[in-house]
Amino acid sequence: MSNLVSVETSDGVRTIRWNRPEKKNALLREMYTAAAEAIESGEAEKSVRVFVLGGQPGLFTAGNDLVDFMEAPPHIGSGDMPPVERFMRALMGAKKPVIAEVDGLAIGIGTTLLMHCDLAYASENAAFKTPFADLALAPEFASSLLFPTRLGRAAASDLLMLGSVWNAARALEAGLITGIFPSARLANDVREKALALAAKSPGAVRKAKELMMTPDEPLDARMAREGGIFAEMLQSPEFSEAVTAFMERRAPDFSKFG
Ligand code: COA
Repeated sequence: MSNLVSVETSDGVRTIRWNRPEKKNALLREMYTAAAEAIESGEAEKSVRVFVLGGQPGLFTAGNDLVDFMEAPPHIGSGDMPPVERFMRALMGAKKPVIAEVDGLAIGIGTTLLMHCDLAYASENAAFKTPFADLALAPEFASSLLFPTRLGRAAASDLLMLGSVWNAARALEAGLITGIFPSARLANDVREKALALAAKSPGAVRKAKELMMTPDEPLDARMAREGGIFAEMLQSPEFSEAVTAFMERRAPDFSKFG
């Protein structure tokens, strides 16, 4: 495991932090590999319910290390599976929820990856930027599809063509992030959200994510898909626990479910 990425797991929350502050958390191949391993192994561990992806106070990431880019240019989708692709595929494919915690700079892939997280919280110090046109590079990891679809074409062009710097308020308004917390409280407040999510029915959280990630389909088809899952879940031990807890006037305990 690289010491440039810290991984800690407690109370169902696995927190992965970029840890290369002297280089503004610019991401090296070994950092992507370490983060990919942390997600991949966490997906297989019952005790891990939620991932948090962050940096240090005042710094998320300055994006891919530009020297590393020159030394080992990754070819995404070529079948080589460079570390950055392994990491992004682990993130995109995670069945468990991922929460991004952004304080300070979120450049390049630091902003791109937010589209692949379930929730993203930023501090008022956050700055989002995808300077691909300045670097003579193209958008990455489906951001040319996801940004226009989710943020709108005009906002996507502002990021992907102009490379404008967005502050947290702009990012919130555009729907790039879920919420803003004061910088001094960001890690604590994000942890509270993560703990809240970790205490919910893991099956229900997984299904909600799976459904939201299912490609577009006609409304009738989606209703039927949800209906089938809903009916199945009405028979589940997790639902029994929820109803029993309601009858017993206590909080449900989903800790034994995986
Ligand atoms: N790749 C490699 N090294 C990077 C880096 C990156 N993406 N971002 C920062 N660094 C390094 C700097 O080279 C510098 O190293 P040094 O101390 O050995 O000279 C160190 O991190 C500190 O960066 P510096 O530029 O001095 O800090 P700053 O506060 O003035 O500026 C940034 C910070 C992030 C705005 C600026 O470094 C920058 O624009 N970085 C490039 C961002 C980028 O284009 N990312 C790629 C997106 S695809």
